Amino acid sequence: MFTFEISDERASIFLNPATCTDPVRWHEIAADLRANEPVLRIEEDLFSPLYALTRHEDVFEVSRRHDIWNNTRASVLMPDIQQQLLDGMGFMPHTLVHMDGHEHIAHRQVTNDWFKPAAVKSLQAPIEKIADEFVQRFRDFDGECDFAQDIAVPFTLHVIMSIFGIPREDEQTMLELTQGMFGAADPEYLGDMADPFEAIVGTINQFQAYFDALSADRRQCPTEDLATVIANGQVDGCPLGSTAELWYYIIVATAGHDTTSYGLSGGMEALLHHPDQVQALRDDPALATNAAEEMIRWTSAVRQFLRYAQEDTEVRGVPIKKGERVLLSYPSANRDEAVFENPQQFDIRRKDADKLISFGVGAHYCLGSQVARREIRTMLPRILEVCDTIEPAGDAEWAEANFVGGVKHLPVRYTLK
Ligand code: HEM
Repeated sequence: MFTFEISDERASIFLNPATCTDPVRWHEIAADLRANEPVLRIEEDLFSPLYALTRHEDVFEVSRRHDIWNNTRASVLMPDIQQQLLDGMGFMPHTLVHMDGHEHIAHRQVTNDWFKPAAVKSLQAPIEKIADEFVQRFRDFDGECDFAQDIAVPFTLHVIMSIFGIPREDEQTMLELTQGMFGAADPEYLGDMADPFEAIVGTINQFQAYFDALSADRRQCPTEDLATVIANGQVDGCPLGSTAELWYYIIVATAGHDTTSYGLSGGMEALLHHPDQVQALRDDPALATNAAEEMIRWTSAVRQFLRYAQEDTEVRGVPIKKGERVLLSYPSANRDEAVFENPQQFDIRRKDADKLISFGVGAHYCLGSQVARREIRTMLPRILEVCDTIEPAGDAEWAEANFVGGVKHLPVRYTLK
């Protein structure tokens, strides 16, 4: 198990997953960095040096200039030793977010049509049906539940699994596997495995076995689902192949689930602390679209990605050499005073919510942004339709995770209509 003893508290908000369990302190430090050291050089044990970018403008510009700034296969921050171990064993992930240039465009093309606005619009009716079903779960508990685990997680999981075409009885396995991938830093999801490295390798092996069987089935009996698109996908005229298929499944299954579930649970956490906004949403359900946007800004479930300079360059006057790396901090950029009015205020009527950078920018812009938005804005009014009252029933708990994270437990008390 890696221990994270980071000497500089400012650096620790990016490197140490435990800092993500205290969002108030986290955002205080980020605000200080935006004001005083927006390009922070970090040199700490366990990690090769990097620069943390906390301003919206810098995160935006670096993301946009993918000719200068590449993702590379090391776009997700981890201790060097962990990266070397994964690499040595041939387990370095190779998904869309680990690709650049032609390889990235060609692989993204495989599912691009599926995620185009018109195609996603056709998912609205199925998403509504699933939201109708899962909101009824409030009736299964006696006026109190953990909104995150009892509603948000299973709802968003079922949406992504039905897009894939994965049978309902396998959803629990998929949930454990996705948490094994991205929740591995959080002790709650480690189970018996005390070593996060082993946890990730074990998870990848289980994913491979599952998806190999699924792909074989969809090649033999194609359907309309996303699994069929991936199983029959081609890059440069050749089949994707088992490994590329696996990474494709992993990126969509993982990127498409925890992210949205954290957006919904963390968004509800913020909403419930503003009863006036709950009432406003009850009075005008059309506010749900902007409310979903604000929840996604506020929660910023994907916390960071790395980019690597392909030439000597600079950010805000700080020289950065070819091969050096910067960290894009989405939660910080989403609270930038230069872009958002009263950024530390949660406000479902916010006029500038559409400036959110939670889905990134440029070539890697989130493929599923329209799906995520639809899921959250479809679920919100339904919650208020079913619940006559709903309020916090204790403190929320945030996941110890510095890649994809947010509220993992949200106790709520409610009365039904
Ligand atoms: C609130 C929910 C979500 C958030 C905050 C989020 C955020 C992000 C971010 C920050 C990126 C990287 C963007 C960049 O580098 O510029 C990304 C990429 C991606 N997301 Fe999402 N995402 C969400 C939901 C989803 C959903 C629902 C899906 C699938 C149905 C999805 C699929 C993907 C994929 C496949 C990529 C990789 C795209 C590429 O590298 O070309 N995401 N997402």
